[in-house]
Amino acid sequence: MRIAPSILACDFGRLADEIAAAEMGGADWIHVDVMDGRFVPNLTFGPMLVEAARRATRLTLDVHLMMEEPERYLAGFAQAGADVLTVHQEACPHLHRTLQAIRELGVKAGVALNPGTPVESVRDVVPMLDLLLVMSVNPGFGGQTYIPESTARVRRARALLDAAGSRADIEVDGGVDATNAGELVAAGVTVLVAGSSVYGHPDGPAGGIRALREALRA
Ligand code: DX5
Ligand code: ZN
Repeated sequence: MRIAPSILACDFGRLADEIAAAEMGGADWIHVDVMDGRFVPNLTFGPMLVEAARRATRLTLDVHLMMEEPERYLAGFAQAGADVLTVHQEACPHLHRTLQAIRELGVKAGVALNPGTPVESVRDVVPMLDLLLVMSVNPGFGGQTYIPESTARVRRARALLDAAGSRADIEVDGGVDATNAGELVAAGVTVLVAGSSVYGHPDGPAGGIRALREALRA
């Protein structure tokens, strides 16, 4: 079970320290939310920030591309130090080709699904996946409320991967906290992304990660 704090919720003026605090607090991966202002109504980072994050940690950099035409930037993100590149199913008319391109760059390939996109829509690319990201909010902003139907979607994602004999990770992203982490892991999640519940925790990122792990033990 891996925890991937999302730096979208951190203090960008102290980026390296915030990443180090998550790492010291027991983070497994660092989740980086790239938003283009078109696929989602918000604008965040590009490859230069991934490069800065790369200098700050040796943890896996899990880069979530909420953007149109992600294929134009895959090489740039890979060169910047991304370890996992996840594109959105809804943004990729040639999903198979895009996943091939990610794999050819030597990084792990992921596909993300918005809450309104059927899980079954990625069935035919399952053999190409290292990770399937089930969005549990509509992407674009941190701090939103978990959509309860997401747990059932994770269960369907797990069944889809199992039926194909896939060992890909299932990641969930959006509104994840100590109240829903347990049911998500029971449903088949292997990577929990958490922004506000980690960086917004009164005891800092270490406290947020501890709270998630305690919830999983309970
Ligand atoms: C939402 C992003 C998330 C976001 C999660 O569009 O993809 O990764 O940072 O933040 P919280 O955990 O605050 O919902
Ligand atoms: Zn994300």
